[in-house]
Amino acid sequence: MAFSLSTVSSPKIFLPSDGFLRSPSQTRLRPFFARPVPGPKTWFSSKPISISTGFHRRQPVKMAAATGSKQLTVFETEEELAVSLAKYTAEISDKFTRERGAFTVVLSGGSLIKALRKLTEAPYLESVEWSKWHVFWVDERVVKLDHPDSNYKLALDGFLSKVPIPPNQIYAINDTLPPEGAAEDYEARLKQLVWDRVIKVVPTSGLPRFDLMLLGMGPDGHVASLFPGHPLLKETQKWVTHITDSPKPPPERITFTFPVINASAYVAMVVTGSGKAGAVHKALSGGENTGYTDRLPVEMVELEQGEFTWFTDKAAVSMLNEKDTGL
Ligand code: 6PG
Repeated sequence: MAFSLSTVSSPKIFLPSDGFLRSPSQTRLRPFFARPVPGPKTWFSSKPISISTGFHRRQPVKMAAATGSKQLTVFETEEELAVSLAKYTAEISDKFTRERGAFTVVLSGGSLIKALRKLTEAPYLESVEWSKWHVFWVDERVVKLDHPDSNYKLALDGFLSKVPIPPNQIYAINDTLPPEGAAEDYEARLKQLVWDRVIKVVPTSGLPRFDLMLLGMGPDGHVASLFPGHPLLKETQKWVTHITDSPKPPPERITFTFPVINASAYVAMVVTGSGKAGAVHKALSGGENTGYTDRLPVEMVELEQGEFTWFTDKAAVSMLNEKDTGL
């Protein structure tokens, strides 16, 4: 069965045909470990199995508003994760390219860029319609675009320079502006692209609806440049805002806000390594005894109407167990 790209209204996990089995009637989330499947058969050929609670059970208020779905995938190795992430991204690109002749994709910095490396190889280098891609950043460090700290430079060197996306469809920040000006400028450009119908809009809210956001998460549970306990977590008006006291260097950045992230059609949260295990545990299990007290930014990614997929490895979920997930 082909991987379904349709949006679903309840949390799901996808079980590989040769993966671990569990009852379809179970009502709480449990991670599965996707085993390597040679050739075209991957976990994307799995049967979706609905669960009735799972991730949302700790946030009843948000849950009432959000109708998006969540899925968890766990890979034996980062290499297998990279293979599946490329297939997932290529399939979503294909879906939107066919539907509307454009694909809007948002990148973060960090280890995500390396995880996208398989897209620069066969068969994707030839099969993906790169000319339809429009590339944005969920957050960017306010430095020159050729600075080693620049997320644009990271993505250019590791991914974008290896695929034929038209340069005028790669939307880097204006690196001549200070943080506040750079955020305002980026938001204005997004609004123009909504007006030009490159970026879709959510009719009810007027928010931009990006086709796919490819996000990472820090060990503290931050996403984009939205850090635990920071006032920017509460921003509801701006699409893009700025920060000058980022706890992760460099301090000056711009970032998409939660309303924009949560309006996305698809979000992939790519998280590997044992350093993230505590935050993953809190986000996926209920969070007792993790050392984290407040709601983490990653827990605030609650899609209004979209599909949120965690791409993890065994180290990242090493603190999850049956007791934590209620099984
Ligand atoms: C940034 C990133 C940031 C990143 C996470 C995860 O500019 O710092 O966009 O949000 O995605 O910190 O980074 P790692 O995957 O490298 O841990």
